[in-house]
Amino acid sequence: MPGEQNADFPSEVTDLIKSFEVTRDLQYQIMERLEDEMNKGLKAALNPTAKIKMLPTYVTSLPDGTENGDFLALDLGGSNFRVMWVKIKNGKSKTCMDVYTIPSEVMRGPGDQLFDYIAEHLAKFTSYHNICEMCIPLGFTFSFPCFHKGLASATLVTWTKGYDAAGVEGKDVVPLLEAACKRKNVQVDIVAVINDTVATQMAGAFKDHNCVVGLILGTGCNASYLECTEKVEMFEGAKGPENFVIIDCEFGAFGDNGCLDDVRTDFDRDIDRRTFNRGKQFYEKMIAGMYLGEILRLAIIHLINQKVIFGGVLPEALQKEWGFKTKNLTYIENDTTQDLSETREILESFDLHPSAAELQIIRALSRAIWTRGSRLVASGISQIARRINTPSVTVAVDGSLYQHFHQFRELMLSDIKELVPKYEVKFHHAEDGSGIGGAVTAAVAVRQSRTGQNGQPHVPLQNGDCV
Ligand code: GLC
Repeated sequence: MPGEQNADFPSEVTDLIKSFEVTRDLQYQIMERLEDEMNKGLKAALNPTAKIKMLPTYVTSLPDGTENGDFLALDLGGSNFRVMWVKIKNGKSKTCMDVYTIPSEVMRGPGDQLFDYIAEHLAKFTSYHNICEMCIPLGFTFSFPCFHKGLASATLVTWTKGYDAAGVEGKDVVPLLEAACKRKNVQVDIVAVINDTVATQMAGAFKDHNCVVGLILGTGCNASYLECTEKVEMFEGAKGPENFVIIDCEFGAFGDNGCLDDVRTDFDRDIDRRTFNRGKQFYEKMIAGMYLGEILRLAIIHLINQKVIFGGVLPEALQKEWGFKTKNLTYIENDTTQDLSETREILESFDLHPSAAELQIIRALSRAIWTRGSRLVASGISQIARRINTPSVTVAVDGSLYQHFHQFRELMLSDIKELVPKYEVKFHHAEDGSGIGGAVTAAVAVRQSRTGQNGQPHVPLQNGDCV
């Protein structure tokens, strides 16, 4: 477990490991601070200056099993972009999907280029599957903080996770996508735009109606949950019959007002200075897959510069910013060889030639870094469970960190049990939730529009019946 073998380490190493420590007591304090910050976000008078925006969606109904039909889903928000065709029938779904890696010049180029890229792949997909003539309702999972004025309206507050396409912040992404689709000659009927946490929650709720929380642990980290409409002063939509609305918490921004400065280290500050969204997403930058590898790289360099390891020699290969991937922390943790030969192999790929003692140091350091992330997210989810305050809370979750880093996941689960023993917090892995959830939300929108349940005039969607 975290902490083993640390006794024999040089004091520089033990000090460094200690700087990543999040004690149980600190976890409880963090929960209190999060509660305060979330409350600020929910209050109309405090929201403009609140860092956690607690963004109301217009999702006021969970899937009820009566949704049927064919839906398209677009999923943009991490390193990959996905197009899906989802058939929904009698509570079951069948998916056909294409995945593309988003080139960094598209992530950070002109906004039109990003939307053209999306539209182009959508056009290829619909033409390949012979669905180009049908105008299937589309759910767009756009995994960034957005203000919503309706289910099919999402104004980007700020880019996160390394995206920085020009001219999109402050704009509604729906007309931007529609215009790009027109340019690429593809028909669309965008009926819902949602965050990936919300999509994951909806995909989870499609299988298990008790999913009241959505969690993403991947390139970024964020959560959504069902909140009583009365508590959401920023919500301007019509109340659904069930009297709740899903909130996209955007709790990755927790700490942006300095309230986590006692947890952050010089490495976190260094990373923040080198990100496109400098000064933002402090909590996320200590937890998510985009950052853990970079934190470890900086921590190793720190010990090298102090001449504690590798004879004080810093190889060029390790100097490449963002060059040390988070999956390496997973491999190091999973290394069960007697002589840690797999860890050695990783380090050798950076021209580092570790002694047995250095291997132990790197392993302990890696563990300290992911342990801090896991403990921080455990505090976040525990606090959400407290807010929901029902004996059993089901969290729909997806993301590479959750899926592939089982030690991170297990520690989070056991911490939650200890932090909030009063609640039974269950996890439901909603695989491909951010994509499927887009389609499920589109299906709920169509169902609500047909039955006139969405508080909007009962008019059929333009082409909602075409499948
Ligand atoms: C970032 C985004 C948020 C998203 C999360 C997970 O925190 O701001 O919208 O849900 O990453 O992808």
